[in-house]
Amino acid sequence: MCKIFENTLPKVTLFMSTKKNQQNSKLILAPMEGVVDPLMRDLLTTINNFDFCFIEFIRIIDALLPERVFYRMAPELNHDGYTPDKTPIRIQLLGQHPQWMAENAVRAIELGSHGIDINFGCPAKAVNKSKGGAVLLKTPEEIYKIVSCVKQAVGKEVTTSVKIRLGFDDATLLDEIVDAIVSADADLLTIHARTKRHGYRPPAYWEYIGDIQNKYNIELVANGEIWSKNDADRCKNITNTTNLMLGRGILALPNLANVIKLNATPMSWHETTLLLQKYSQLELQGDKSYYFSSRLKQWLRYLKLQYPEAEILFEKIKTFKNKNDILDEIQLSNSNSNIAK
Ligand SMILES: Cc1cc2nc3c(=O)[nH]c(=O)nc-3n(C[C@H](O)[C@H](O)[C@H](O)COP(=O)(O)O)c2cc1C
Repeated sequence: MCKIFENTLPKVTLFMSTKKNQQNSKLILAPMEGVVDPLMRDLLTTINNFDFCFIEFIRIIDALLPERVFYRMAPELNHDGYTPDKTPIRIQLLGQHPQWMAENAVRAIELGSHGIDINFGCPAKAVNKSKGGAVLLKTPEEIYKIVSCVKQAVGKEVTTSVKIRLGFDDATLLDEIVDAIVSADADLLTIHARTKRHGYRPPAYWEYIGDIQNKYNIELVANGEIWSKNDADRCKNITNTTNLMLGRGILALPNLANVIKLNATPMSWHETTLLLQKYSQLELQGDKSYYFSSRLKQWLRYLKLQYPEAEILFEKIKTFKNKNDILDEIQLSNSNSNIAK
């Protein structure tokens, strides 16, 4: 299927005048393993005008995964690859073997994914140890093989995007990495503006994205540390990029995408408690209801960054195990916020 293994990495032309496939600005919901699952995608895309969601990575090792794995990770595939609110989803694959990545990419497309995203940013030790994720940032040649093989397999018409960090320990290989991705004919590149070593610590080094934007002929998406409209504006200025991907920021402020895109008013705590109630109801109806209390506490940890009331709610429920006690506290916080209004 893929003839690229003998190929060496060709050099790309820098400073092209027009960007390939450049379209209007996009706002993308970040993939977040164990956090932004189908239910969260449903909630967040319903209250925001996202252009796309990238799903949590699917780990590819040495096999073509059965269809049921794709449907489990992305039940949206049962609906032509759209969330209930009609936002398209894109499957993200993480792996090190070009051929298996390509075969799984073809399967994802056949099942209805709107394009393929390839993850070279995952910092997890176990994943890096088995040569997947951010560790591949050390070897641009390998990145080239994977992206090029996937792109050849899915074809020109299918958007192949790539998500990277600035590098593994530092950003010295960044140009080579981007060279590899552009040479492999990728259509879109998301840059999480931190190295693997930086983890998730602020700041994000957006200026590197600006530099790449000036040099390479590929459409970019800027990612990292966008928590407010002000951050989004500064990020766009520094990166000279209008496409943004929102990760933790949207969990802290659930309508952040619309605050950025439509100048919407940031959601009040009262509205947020209604969202928490809806989330609780859906989570308890679903097959992961067992995890309800830990999932809700996880979300409150992000909401605490935006709302002092979330901190109070978190402190109250943090030791609770019983779902009814938790629901009662959310209801109480909702009523109190109503009175305070
Ligand atoms: C809990 C968690 C899970 C993540 N899972 C993924 C993932 O599956 N695929 C991926 O490409 N990035 C993943 N990321 C990285 C985010 O997509 C994003 O690049 C990162 O959080 C930086 O953006 P932010 O500062 O807006 O959060 C994850 C991040 C977190 C915090």
